Amino acid sequence: MSTTVIDVRNAALRLSGKPVLRDVSFTVAEGEIFGILGPNGAGKSTTAECLSGALVPEHGSIRVAGMQPHHDLAGIRETVGYQFQSAQLPPALRAREAIELFASFYPSPRNSVELLEAVGLGDCAKTPYGRMSGGQQQRLSIALALVGNPRIIVLDELTTGLDPEGRRDVLELIRQMRREGVSVVLITHFMDEAQRLCDRVAVLFRGTTCWTGPPSELVAEARGRNPEVNDLADAYLGLLEELRRNQ
Ligand SMILES: Nc1ncnc2c1ncn2[C@@H]1O[C@H](COP(=O)(O)OP(=O)(O)OP(=O)(O)O)[C@@H](O)[C@H]1O
Ligand SMILES: [Mg+2]
Repeated sequence: MSTTVIDVRNAALRLSGKPVLRDVSFTVAEGEIFGILGPNGAGKSTTAECLSGALVPEHGSIRVAGMQPHHDLAGIRETVGYQFQSAQLPPALRAREAIELFASFYPSPRNSVELLEAVGLGDCAKTPYGRMSGGQQQRLSIALALVGNPRIIVLDELTTGLDPEGRRDVLELIRQMRREGVSVVLITHFMDEAQRLCDRVAVLFRGTTCWTGPPSELVAEARGRNPEVNDLADAYLGLLEELRRNQ
């Protein structure tokens, strides 16, 4: 029996009076790569922020490694690595300095030089954040999510802005994390990435999880309705069409 490391039940949250999460439920098993898919504005990043404890659902419950994130921020910080969609660092901070600064928050951090190499920033150790290209900044944010040797990582659109080699390297890094037993939550708009990497996915639509399961099952279900469905991208787009028709 696999252990559940994340358990989200019926989470609901309004922001500025607007219902952003209506009914979000999913579980993530230890060592699993779990994808969160959904259109812009569906509530994916808000869900990630609830997992970090930065936001607190008004209804429902969230457990991460047995903790309530907003009640145990210190425990969550030690256990979970986050890469947020809109992270910003001071422009003068150099790549290696940033990693070493973040490493100092953790009891057993990764080696900063090895980590820079692993995310393809070996040549940028002394480059200030403000001078890095968008893709390099993205790679640095991934390194910062991994530096504390977390048991769980939450990655919000981590391959957006990366070049093809960068994407390949980062996806390989995630596979390596899984081999090390790390559980991964991967928010992505890239269906090929989700199909290749994720054990299971949740589809979020207007703040509600409307489908959860292995990508191959979503494809098989969609193919049952339309034999022309080839892959997860076709299946996902078909599901969204159906949801919009019924909304
Ligand atoms: N502080 C806020 N006040 C009002 N609305 C907000 C606030 N924060 C987020 N929202 C709204 O919540 C919705 C969900 O936002 P969220 O960032 O979670 O979407 P997402 O699924 O991550 O989208 P994307 O794919 O574009 O990153 C959006 O409609 C957004 O405008
Ligand atoms: Mg988002």
